Amino acid sequence: MRPTIYITRLLPKDVIDKLSIDLNVRMWEEEEIPVPREILLREIKNADGLLCLLTDMVDEEVINEATRLKIISNMAVGFNNIDIHSAQKKGIIVTNTPGVLTETTADLTFALLMATARRLIDASDCLRKGEWGAWSPMQHTGQEVYGATLGIVGLGRIGEALVKWAKGFNMNVLYYNRTQKFYKERELEIHFTKLRDLLKQADFVCLLLPFSHEVYHFIGKEELSLMKSNAILINTARGGIVDEDALFDALKKGKIWAAGLDVFEEEPVSSDHPLLSLPNVVTLPHIGSASVQTRINMAKLAADNILNVLSEKKPITPVKL
Ligand code: DGY
Repeated sequence: MRPTIYITRLLPKDVIDKLSIDLNVRMWEEEEIPVPREILLREIKNADGLLCLLTDMVDEEVINEATRLKIISNMAVGFNNIDIHSAQKKGIIVTNTPGVLTETTADLTFALLMATARRLIDASDCLRKGEWGAWSPMQHTGQEVYGATLGIVGLGRIGEALVKWAKGFNMNVLYYNRTQKFYKERELEIHFTKLRDLLKQADFVCLLLPFSHEVYHFIGKEELSLMKSNAILINTARGGIVDEDALFDALKKGKIWAAGLDVFEEEPVSSDHPLLSLPNVVTLPHIGSASVQTRINMAKLAADNILNVLSEKKPITPVKL
């Protein structure tokens, strides 16, 4: 009997076609609406593979419903939506999509840094609202990027790519990581710095660490209070890393200069979220990896992981605990 897989969102046709050659494919055929939980709980029962997105909570309850699941393939590099330990207990392989979205996410991180530093959205909105008065010396002035100090918190693939972008802007790059990456320091010309010192010295703090309960509200009131008053916080990782109430307070009181946020603790963020009311916040709807080619590559890699595991081969990109 052909193995059955469940896909939690409409994926590109050629990816589905490839999977359908050997597998019985069931799918939630919506492009923008996540699969309702009760449907996921029902579909998982008879699935051999699950291809899911970061919007799907694959927690213990879902995993316990599975009777013959062999693989959970997440179409994202982050996998905080999956209860890895429950999967492991049942011998289910979990895979993600690292590598294929590195540069695209670094692009977006740097674009958000630039847009926040140079107030691009604010300035563009002003023009569209017909509020462009005469050119004036200090109007829409932002912060220097060239030659500034960048602090990267979480030096994984995306952090490393970001260093190369930053070096093109002659930036001095500090990094903080759970483990010091000595071998990268000379190659990339970066300096390992304790978190507190990085926060004190950086003009830009970019959060690029993977999310888990250990880094819940990693950046809170105390950490924000260490940052310079002209500093900018950029988060393209996961919203839960930052205490949003503390961030709101720091931005409102001018303790830090601005924030660029691609991610929120609850997504989609509600339009009356306090952070969206602040002029010194640039926000995006979690589009770090959103280029056509990258999203196709992520879907293909997620599919190939499923195909491999269901044909008794090794997964290409397994999540390691
Ligand atoms: C990821 O892959 O984890 C990003 O957040 C979305 O591409």
